[in-house]
Amino acid sequence: MDKFVITGGKKLSGEVEVSGAKNAAVAIIPATILADGSCRIENIPNISDVTSVIDILYKLGARVKLINKTTLEIDSSNLYAPVVPNELARKMRASSYFLGALLGKYSHAKVAMPGGCDFGVRPIDQHIKGFEALGVNISLEHGMVEASSVQLKGNHIYLDVVSVGATVNIMLAAVMAQGLTIIENSAKEPHIVDLANFLSTMGADIRGAGTDVIKIHGVERLHGCTYSIIPDQIEAGTFMAAAVATGGEVLIKNVIPKHLEIISAKLEEMGAEIEEYDDSLLVRRTKPLIRANVKTMPHPGFPTDMQPQIAVLMSIAEGTSIITEGVWDNRFRYVDELKRMGASIQVDGKIAVVEGVGRLMAAPVKATDLRAGAALIIGGLVAQGTTEIEDIQHIERGYENVEEKFRSLGADIQRINVPDEISYDKAII
Ligand code: EPU
Repeated sequence: MDKFVITGGKKLSGEVEVSGAKNAAVAIIPATILADGSCRIENIPNISDVTSVIDILYKLGARVKLINKTTLEIDSSNLYAPVVPNELARKMRASSYFLGALLGKYSHAKVAMPGGCDFGVRPIDQHIKGFEALGVNISLEHGMVEASSVQLKGNHIYLDVVSVGATVNIMLAAVMAQGLTIIENSAKEPHIVDLANFLSTMGADIRGAGTDVIKIHGVERLHGCTYSIIPDQIEAGTFMAAAVATGGEVLIKNVIPKHLEIISAKLEEMGAEIEEYDDSLLVRRTKPLIRANVKTMPHPGFPTDMQPQIAVLMSIAEGTSIITEGVWDNRFRYVDELKRMGASIQVDGKIAVVEGVGRLMAAPVKATDLRAGAALIIGGLVAQGTTEIEDIQHIERGYENVEEKFRSLGADIQRINVPDEISYDKAII
């Protein structure tokens, strides 16, 4: 298993290119199942969550052709069976999108319960509520969700909680359902709009994506298309936070500045200077970092996926900051790791009080999940000494070439291969 070894203290400087959005890619790739032809998808990030989604499609019988480093041609029009087995589904949360996409195309799907980062309970009751409203019968047996209907029919669906996953899944199931589907209290994240744009390019009739009411008129069939995925809001935000943490100056390229406004505003409040261009942001900090409070919320609120990264900034800022986690029940598992680096953070339920300690110290730490891992990299970049981060497979789920990108900005970060321990019974003596 590899680990990252980071020697802190270097100010980041230079330019970095942001990859395509993970959370858009993992919805758009399964959505190719709905097309009657082949789809050329550009700006696909090279990350392990995308590999897992492609792996599932491939095993279902899709033909996947690599056109270049970031472009795939996917023909999912002839699948063997609408079934996603356990060993594939457990690798990631987005495997649940195969339910919506297979239902939309075949009115039948059998998909194992999804995996993904552990933030406490991650239910799919709202996905199921949406499918049932469309006339689907659902049963759960031996860890498999089986969903089927004679004909999906449009309906009016009120989501009880704002859920990205439920909004995506209902959109996928409804695009070819009979009649009109209305999703109220839908998620508004940039990847929801990106998925809607992709489906519309395939011939779907979707209005209102990006607002809290999405209207979908079912169409008879969808066709193949060419589509380019939006840049990753959270990867961009992570580089912004790293530039600010190290007191550096970084031009972050291939971004949609509008998607980053709330992150920019919080970083400016903490002492950053940000210049906005058409598709890039120049981020620098020359003044001391100061405290701030953050409450994470669904878009357009401050993204929960930036919460651990901002906690690192708060740890080295002047004063005491408060984080209120407004999306997940348990997204503070990284706090114990940051404490090993000298951070002073008290967690009580969904609230964390972060007392600025000025400086972090290197320590051996473990990435507990994807964004926790990103936060530990930023911690390592500002810490005194050499930090070792284990379990970096979590980071690779969502950040493309992360160490190379940081190295190109002047960071001292290396990937070290640690051979797996050999147990005595397997050792050849
Ligand atoms: N929820 C329910 N019932 C449901 C679905 C969700 O109660 O049926 C609750 C969840 O427990 C949570 C809240 O609703 O408290 C929001 O969950 P949501 O469904 O929006 O999350 P998700 O679709 O599972 C996506 C991202 C996450 C991101 C969240 C919130 C993908 C593949 N994942 O998860 O991204 O944190 O939305 O924005 O899109 C990440 O990229 O690091 C990541 C974890």
